[in-house]
Amino acid sequence: MTAPVPAPLPTRDLHPASAADAPWWRDAVIYQIYPRSWADGDGDGVGDLPGTTARLEYLRDLGVDAVWLSPFYRSPHNDGGYDVSDHRDVDPLFGSIADADALITRAHELGLRVVVDLVPNHTSWEHEWFRAALAAAPGSPERDRYMFRDGLGEDGELPPTDWLSNFGGGAWTRVTEPDGTPGQWYLHLFDPSQPDLNWQNPQVRADFEGILRFWLDRGVDGFRVDVAHGLVKKEGLPNYDKHPGGLLEVTHEAPYWDQDGVHEIYRAWRELLDSYGVPERIMCAEAWVAPADRLARYVRPDEFHQAFNFDFLETPWLAEPLRDVIAKSLAASDSVGAPATWVLSNHDVLRHATRFALPQDAARPNGIGAQDPQPDAELGLRRARAATALMLALPGGAYVYQGEELGLPEHTSLPDAVRQDPTFMRTGGLERGRDGCRVPMPWTKGARALGFNTTGAAWLPQPQSYADLAVDVQTGVERSTLEMYRSLIALRKERALGRGALAEVEGLGADVLGYLVTAPDGERTLVIANLSTTPVELPEGATAIAASGILDGRQVPTDTTVWATLG
Ligand code: GLC
Repeated sequence: MTAPVPAPLPTRDLHPASAADAPWWRDAVIYQIYPRSWADGDGDGVGDLPGTTARLEYLRDLGVDAVWLSPFYRSPHNDGGYDVSDHRDVDPLFGSIADADALITRAHELGLRVVVDLVPNHTSWEHEWFRAALAAAPGSPERDRYMFRDGLGEDGELPPTDWLSNFGGGAWTRVTEPDGTPGQWYLHLFDPSQPDLNWQNPQVRADFEGILRFWLDRGVDGFRVDVAHGLVKKEGLPNYDKHPGGLLEVTHEAPYWDQDGVHEIYRAWRELLDSYGVPERIMCAEAWVAPADRLARYVRPDEFHQAFNFDFLETPWLAEPLRDVIAKSLAASDSVGAPATWVLSNHDVLRHATRFALPQDAARPNGIGAQDPQPDAELGLRRARAATALMLALPGGAYVYQGEELGLPEHTSLPDAVRQDPTFMRTGGLERGRDGCRVPMPWTKGARALGFNTTGAAWLPQPQSYADLAVDVQTGVERSTLEMYRSLIALRKERALGRGALAEVEGLGADVLGYLVTAPDGERTLVIANLSTTPVELPEGATAIAASGILDGRQVPTDTTVWATLG
């Protein structure tokens, strides 16, 4: 046990407060819905828009500001809808355009903003443009909307470059020409069913501006932009011998990631968004880009409003790296006047209630299978709650992924036979893939499919552990994870933590994180996250107002975060 730190606390300033009347998105809490798995209105086992609309009050009660919906557009679903065949239509699996309109209207009635996904790096191979490209000749305008190239070797039998797909295997697929002969190759940084678009083609640029307008005119409040760091490829498509091993190892040295040319696209989109006036319509970049100053380029004042802070998401539950990433992220976003955008989970990564139960000094696996060592759920949940309480105290925006407010773990024992993530198939099962974080939500213990629908059908089976974590089990229960999220989000708003100035509190010990948040009106909140193996005492004058675990008097236990007022 450490002795209490005497007042006044020694601090180091990290970040200035934003204006009390700063625009909504600068400190918004945005809830991600993966529509397939949130609420299933028609009982076919796949979540849909009417089901989602019927449940939106839950999000109002949670206290979030906005909802981001993963793609619900027309798609053959080779990659969970991130393979779009018509950006201006809703897939029948999810409903209709009228259902999308109804969702937007209901969300607005409830005071929730709506952010939709935009997938500009590639289309589905079922998109009319790609069909036209296959039917057209090499060198045609139809082919120019994608990345078609002749192969190498005597008969063009070798791929044009050595690039690898993010989902495993090569990044090029050879087509059969209309006359039946083996022909050109097309690029797909992801699945072969997701051909990359050619962003040097003016039609591609014009069409996406049309798509933005289509959804803005329907009332959406913003876009989360998929693979925002991938649209532009390096001139001449040079080979790249240092292959990144997935979404995460991204560097602009790779000829297909984070090329400078992407920024002019986003500047044009920002102008378009701004032309819709206030309240501001926003865009958030999914850009797996490192280091932090490269990411900051995406949130310069005339580009994106937000960019997910994946450095933070990737940081293990260890004090030193966390302290470092928080300071560096704030410095980088402050250098361009943007808010930081914190995130711990999404539909592409192991849920943080599971991730933090794994050895923290090893690389995060892409999925866990029934044959793999099974993580300690209790440890994971304790740390996940502490990490969330830390995240929600930090200035800037925050994203919450559906189910994390229930403390859901990853489904770590999904039978391989039900897996649908192309990563699993393309790596021959070496990577288990992302299905485990995409399992349908548990709403009601004891109900069919735990209340996901009324029929009991579910596109992925729910693990047994989800029953006791269902929404109805946790609602109104003091200290449940759901009630913790509700009270932290409410307190965060009340105390304007998202707009606060942040200072690091020093002298608490190497494995204890301490922050002092000073709201624009001067109100101060102390945040302490204890990652050490022994309890730590609250500093003098501090009174706890929220905690991720149970305090023992003034002692903050291991893996616990506490918020406190200062007398
Ligand atoms: C993004 C999405 C991911 C998808 C990929 C290809 O990373 O978040 O789910 O597989 O892009 O569109």
